[in-house]
Amino acid sequence: MAERPFHWEFKPEPVRRELLRIEGGRRLDGSVTISGAKNAALKLMAAATLTGERCRFTNVPEIEDVHVLTEVLRDIGVTVDHPAPNVYEIASGDAEWLFVPLEAAAKMRASFILLGPLLTRFGRVIISNPGGDRIGRRPVNLHVDAMRALGAEIEYRNGYYFAKAPGRLRGGPINFPQITVMGTENAMLAACLADGHTVIEPAAQEPEVDDLIAFLQKMGAQVERTAPNRIEIEGRRRLRGADHSVVPDRIETGTFIIAAAVTRGRVTLKAAPCDHLGAFLSVMGDMGVSISCGNDTVEVDATQAELHCHDIVTQPYPGLATDLQPPTCVLLTQAEGLSHVHESVFEDRLEWLGELRRMGASVEIVDQHHATIEGPAQLHGADVEIGDLRAGASLILAALAADGVTTIRGAHHVHRGYEKIDAKFLELGARIERLAEGT
Ligand code: UD1
Repeated sequence: MAERPFHWEFKPEPVRRELLRIEGGRRLDGSVTISGAKNAALKLMAAATLTGERCRFTNVPEIEDVHVLTEVLRDIGVTVDHPAPNVYEIASGDAEWLFVPLEAAAKMRASFILLGPLLTRFGRVIISNPGGDRIGRRPVNLHVDAMRALGAEIEYRNGYYFAKAPGRLRGGPINFPQITVMGTENAMLAACLADGHTVIEPAAQEPEVDDLIAFLQKMGAQVERTAPNRIEIEGRRRLRGADHSVVPDRIETGTFIIAAAVTRGRVTLKAAPCDHLGAFLSVMGDMGVSISCGNDTVEVDATQAELHCHDIVTQPYPGLATDLQPPTCVLLTQAEGLSHVHESVFEDRLEWLGELRRMGASVEIVDQHHATIEGPAQLHGADVEIGDLRAGASLILAALAADGVTTIRGAHHVHRGYEKIDAKFLELGARIERLAEGT
């Protein structure tokens, strides 16, 4: 590894704090195109470091997390070209500096996805313990245990994991004590270049994991989902470059479905992955939102909707996505009756409901995993602050449904994961303005 000072020179653009000013109470009407999935794009870009050959990605969302990962990869010595909007080309001939610093990890927890591919390809990496979203403790112990199961030696010192693979990593069984999306992906990426056979169980079933499998197969990896919750990999010595179009974002799709429903609007979503939204669409149907799925379009008509309360439980895929819990809660504020919310995946993902209460919602946070929402409530404009990505998008939804003007501080969090969200809402007739904080 090249000699460089331990304090690092990674200087991502300073965060430009933003606020959104939204005048609510307008029905959304029209159509928007759904972007590529954040949770697929980041992993695909990390997977590109498994080969020295060029990989080309299209339909990559232009979001802050992709831009941060681009900077991290470039600093390691990977070439990342960006020849056109939504197109990224990655060539990682030699990595000069196998170090993923605190600054990167603090901005984006998903930077930890580089552990598996860098370790298996280059034999060593130093990577910061990530912070990321302020939701839950978000530990990475399962990722680290999976690497150790493949023969890695990992020490933790001063906030950094120092990981080494003596020779090649060795394939073997990886049995997760609970389902983890990025843990599954990290293990899978590492196993692709390991010596021998790896079986991951229980493996996450999210569509973005399958998108990663599809890309790895194009690279020549021998990886397959052999049962719904099992992935098997036969390690290869080398992988080749490949092209891939990122799967559409089911979470963005769900967010726009709720936007239409909560404003009693009529919206068509283009390039939308209906097949990946089973549990969510069934909740929407039960609540009284009319949705029809075409080939790659979703039509939502809530102009006549009578919304009913509903109890929801978030779960790993194919259950209801935890990332869609906050938007769904906004809709529950508009439904007749008492709804129970059980957030089973993360602790602390209900805290944001306090901000929703400031907008007039009748919400009780029972404990870290449970809340109740009584509706319908007339939401009103307020000054609110967002602390993480999904809660941020949900406060936008609440503001669209509210009477009066809402000011949302900390709105830059939303750009981490949603491409041009304000422009897309403008296209649908919302009154939304993006301002630098302090204006
Ligand atoms: C991914 C998604 C995130 C989504 C989440 C659950 C990305 C970049 N992010 O996050 O949007 O909300 O899946 O669908 O893909 N856990 C541990 N130890 C670990 C790893 C996880 O205890 O080493 C726990 C977590 O605290 C959580 C649960 O396992 O309670 C599930 O987390 P996980 O599936 O790993 O989420 P991410 O992959 O980080």
